[in-house]
Amino acid sequence: MSVELIDELEAGELAVAFEGEEPETVLEWAIERFSPRIAISTAFQNDGVALLDMAYKIDPEIRLFSVDTGRLPQETFDLVEQLRDRYSGLKLDLLVPNARHVERMVARNGPNFFYRSVDNRLLCCNLRKVQPLTKYLHSLDAWVTGLRRDQWATRTNIRKVEIDHDHGAIVKLTPLAEWTEEEVWDYIRENDVPYHPLYDRGYTSIGCAPCTRAIQPGEPNRAGRWWWEENAPKECGIHCAIETGGFEHELHAILGDDAHA
Ligand code: ADX
Ligand code: SF4
Repeated sequence: MSVELIDELEAGELAVAFEGEEPETVLEWAIERFSPRIAISTAFQNDGVALLDMAYKIDPEIRLFSVDTGRLPQETFDLVEQLRDRYSGLKLDLLVPNARHVERMVARNGPNFFYRSVDNRLLCCNLRKVQPLTKYLHSLDAWVTGLRRDQWATRTNIRKVEIDHDHGAIVKLTPLAEWTEEEVWDYIRENDVPYHPLYDRGYTSIGCAPCTRAIQPGEPNRAGRWWWEENAPKECGIHCAIETGGFEHELHAILGDDAHA
């Protein structure tokens, strides 16, 4: 278990102090304090590329990581190549899920079983995304996310500095918490940052290819994620531990002895 690098009190004080401050101020402080055991998590959406641009300008050695679930759209990899050209020497870790676990999951349930129930979908997200991310976070003291308060009801209370008790009590930083979607786009335009090609095709939130679609006029931005589900959390489990009692048994059957590793 990792040691608490800052305690709840300090995290609370910092969160208050950073309210109203620019994202770069939070990043500068965090990089100074936690480097090299800090990394930016990204799904290569608008928030992720804006954060990358800001952080790279502060410190080109900043580490970036993303979980390649094995089901990402080709356009995401096209963007990765563009970013590698733009930010020379970019330190990017593309994490992959455990191949044996994925094989077992697919053999038992089929490749697209996530469409059949919310529990199936949560199982797939857990195995392909939550597990590799959680493992990677063990090597860090702090991680930066692109979450924003305006994204979804579950996100309205996020603070810019938190102790992440779901991930070994490391520090979780959310520099863009206060920004609106429009402010992120303004930053991208002003700084000519490469962005995901699917935004120009009506997508407003982008994850895995089979689970993401463009939104219809009037729909909220996250409506295109797991669009077939009703009354389910539009979350995959990396930002809030999800327990339903409905997928854990199958998950443990797939993980086998690795469940306790
Ligand atoms: S998700 O939980 O629904 O997938 P969302 O797509 O809104 O999350 O992204 C919010 C933040 O979660 C991103 O800014 C990024 O910090 C992190 N994140 C999401 N997906 C990934 C991923 N595949 N790899 C690493 N970080 C991710
Ligand atoms: Fe699986 Fe879809 Fe979750 Fe990707 S978003 S991990 S394909 S259920």
